[in-house]
Order: sequence, then C-alpha cells, then structure tokens
Amino acid sequence: MLNVVLFGPPGAGKGTQSERLITKYGLVHLSTGDIFRANIKGQTALGQLAKSYIDKGALVPDEVTIGLLTSEVEKHEDPKGFIFDGFPRTTAQAEALDKYLDARNTPITMMLSLVVPEDELKTRLLERAKTSGRTDDADPKIIENRIATYHKETAPVANFYGAQDKLHTIDGVGSIDSITERLYAVIG
Ligand code: AP5
Ligand code: MG
Repeated sequence: MLNVVLFGPPGAGKGTQSERLITKYGLVHLSTGDIFRANIKGQTALGQLAKSYIDKGALVPDEVTIGLLTSEVEKHEDPKGFIFDGFPRTTAQAEALDKYLDARNTPITMMLSLVVPEDELKTRLLERAKTSGRTDDADPKIIENRIATYHKETAPVANFYGAQDKLHTIDGVGSIDSITERLYAVIG
C-alpha cells in the first residue's frame, strides 16, 4: 500500500495536488477539512461542532478528528492506498494514526510537505475567498489564525515523520503542473 501524508500550511496546495495524485496512483483521498465541510453543509451534529472551531481558525479536538478519520479509512475495502490531506495536524493525531495503521500492517509510506511562503498563502486564500464560500477564507484575521495554528500545533508533525526518515519537503511555489511533477518524482 502507498500511504501518503500530504502536508503543508493552509493554502499550500494539498487539495489541488491530491486530486492529481489519486488519479495517477489510484489512491483514496481523505481530507478531514472536506469531510467537516460536507457535514456543515448537511447540518449534522459533527458539522455544527466542527464549524465552531473552523470559523475561528482553530483545530477541531483530536478525539473527534481521530475517530472520524479511522472510520473513513474503514469504509474502503482493499484500497491501493490513501492520501491523507489535512491529517494528521497534531503530534497526538500522528501518534494515533501510526498506532492504527501499524495494527493493520499498512504504515505511512512517506510525508510530502509543501513549502510555500506566508505572503503567497495569504494571496491564494484571499483570491479563493471570492468564489469558495469558505467562511475561513473570507476574513484576513481568520487566515492569520489558521497560519498561527499551523505553526504552533501542526508544524511539529513534520519532525515526527522526519524522525522516521519519511519526510520529503517540496517547493510548493510555481505552476500547479510543475509542483505535480515534483511530487511524482519523489513518489516514483
Ligand atoms: P482544511 O480544509 O484542511 O484547510 P487548510 O489546511 O486550511 O488548507 P486549504 O484547504 O485551505 O488549502 P490546501 O493546502 O488544500 O490548498 P488548495 O489546494 O485548496 O481545514 C480546514 C479547517 O478544518 C481547519 O482550519 C480546522 O479547523 C479543521 N480541520 C481540518 N482537518 C483537521 C484536523 N486533522 N484536525 C483538527 N482540525 C482539522 O489551494 C489553495 C488555493 O490556492 C486554491 O484556490 C488553489 O486553486 C490555489 N493554488 C493551488 N496551487 C497553486 C499554485 N501552485 N499556484 C497558485 N495557486 C495555487
Ligand atoms: Mg484543502
């Protein structure tokens, strides 16, 4: 199995590049952000809970997110592999994912970390705000909070995979096609 953690700050291109990788490698795309947004749209209890955090640019609590992720993994019978997009986002989530995947004998193969300067992230998110309908894109203050949360709670997750020799950093600036090529070159 090919299990890839596609990592990076808000607006780094995780979702955009995931779409390409799933086609090329036949993987399942699991984005916790997309799942939360679908629940908000469907007005579920999970959606209501998630919205209260997303609208502040804060993280949804680990116990909620970890349970959600593992139940999504289990929906797929005999997958070729997964792209985890936006998960794990805390060291506790990474530890829980490792434990869960080890028990299934399907460990994380690699983390691909997209590196994009902060100014470029803000430009991308504010541009997307014009059409996305995402409440967390619409307000520069929320974007600031998302980026601050990334530095404080999420960035350490790269060290977690670095310690396992699974971390690959990729320049996330340039055309979408050129970045896809960089990712293909690392995955092989
Ligand atoms: P999530 O949905 O994961 O959002 P995010 O990490 O803030 O990132 P985005 O989805 O905004 O960016 P992306 O990296 O996918 O980039 P994209 O390809 O869209 O999470 C949302 C919220 O949910 C969190 O804040 C949190 O509250 C909660 N949450 C989610 N997961 C959680 C977890 N595990 N634990 C706790 N809470 C969780 O690209 C962005 C834009 O840039 C697009 O418009 C795109 O067209 C454009 N673009 C892409 N590539 C390029 C390029 N090369 N050049 C120019 N523009 C580009
Ligand atoms: Mg995304």
